Amino acid sequence: MLKNDQLDQWDRDNFFHPSTHLAQHARGESPNRVIKTASGVHIEDRDGTKLLDAFAGLYCVNVGYGRQEIAEAIADQARELAYYHSYVGHGTEASITLSKMILDRAPSNMSKVYFGLGGSDANETNVKLIWYYNNILGRPEKKKIISRWRGYHGSGLVTGSLTGLELFHKKFGLPLAQVVHTDAPYYFRREDQNQTEEQFVAHCVAELEALIEREGADTIAAFIGEPVLGTGGIVPPPAGYWEAIQAVLKKHDILLVVDEVVTGFGRLGTMFGSDHYGLEADIITIAKGLTSAYAPLSGSIVSDKVWKVLEQGTDENGPIGHGWTYSAHPIGAAAGVANLKLIDELNLVENAGSVGAYLNQSMKDALGDHAHVGDIRGEGMLCAVEFVKDRDSRTFFDAADKIGPQISAKLLEQDRVIARAMPQGDILGFAPPFCLTREEADTVVAATARAVKAVLG
Ligand SMILES: Cc1ncc(COP(=O)(O)O)c(C=O)c1O
Repeated sequence: MLKNDQLDQWDRDNFFHPSTHLAQHARGESPNRVIKTASGVHIEDRDGTKLLDAFAGLYCVNVGYGRQEIAEAIADQARELAYYHSYVGHGTEASITLSKMILDRAPSNMSKVYFGLGGSDANETNVKLIWYYNNILGRPEKKKIISRWRGYHGSGLVTGSLTGLELFHKKFGLPLAQVVHTDAPYYFRREDQNQTEEQFVAHCVAELEALIEREGADTIAAFIGEPVLGTGGIVPPPAGYWEAIQAVLKKHDILLVVDEVVTGFGRLGTMFGSDHYGLEADIITIAKGLTSAYAPLSGSIVSDKVWKVLEQGTDENGPIGHGWTYSAHPIGAAAGVANLKLIDELNLVENAGSVGAYLNQSMKDALGDHAHVGDIRGEGMLCAVEFVKDRDSRTFFDAADKIGPQISAKLLEQDRVIARAMPQGDILGFAPPFCLTREEADTVVAATARAVKAVLG
């Protein structure tokens, strides 16, 4: 802490930071970085230090920082109409236009979009809609949701339960009983080292089948998954995984919720991850990339199949008992419209695919042979490097050694590049804005190689 640093003191004294070691922060033992401005792929703190943000905030500033078109759209909307609600059929030009733009881009079986504020509340909405759906269909016992270990779906009560990471459950009394977990499609961490990818997919399918058998298909309403596991380690699924999983879900009449909070609007080099993997969702969750985080906005895109039952429900029971004050907030919607236009105009989906592939390949070229690099994987503008103590025996480091956090700290200190030490395992994650250039990708890779050398030799 700087001497007489008022802002730092106020921060320590007053601000409850999310996902932070609260005690260390309050005592001034952990760094506090005050971000002041940003442009393109760089952010700048109040001391004028410029950092290359290779994680796009929390993989959300997809179009890059400082886009004046979005800032102007927000300002114009705020001046014209900062707020009106969307209950009982009200709307704004921005929210109606945005819903049309989303449906134009979404898979063809999608019907309507409900707007929330963030990914967590959107998944909360999804679970409520699914419970309502099965109540309307006269099968009130069909309520459980299957999620995957290492899945990330938010940190509310039901969404924190869906999230399959220990940190989000421990001491919170989660997961709730309505949520059950199955295996992550994490080939690198398979138990049986001799399994081929194909055999591993068969194993994941068998585990899912066994879970459904144990719980009873008539108690299971839905399965939720990210096309590529995100916070759980940036793990693209093995070939054939989604096809095989969808077949099981169809057989047991289990709905599929595809959580596209990270993958929606271009991160995999396709508009949706569902397009990339041939997923036929019943509900799609969107957030982050919808506005590139210029304003908080999320959505639940509901398929024709689900929508029909929701209509039946309101015919039988009256208006849907669900809504937030800020649902479809005009400022978020205006940001969303400007953001989606910009993505099209600048061909950013294509750029995410091509520069993302370049980043992944360059990372493999630079670090693929390192004795402590066990796996380098990615898809589109997502990349992860996983560290191991011993490559041949695939022995992991002790979590207490904090190898991942050490490397990300070194990366920041030496070259001012931000990558994310993923929360479970020694995994360095990259998810840059889609406007990243090849030169900037080179900078990220060279800096990463230097940080790895400094920590692991
Ligand atoms: C796949 C996924 N779903 C949901 C969420 C939760 O979104 P939020 O943090 O906006 O509540 C996240 C956040 O990282 C996410 O990655």
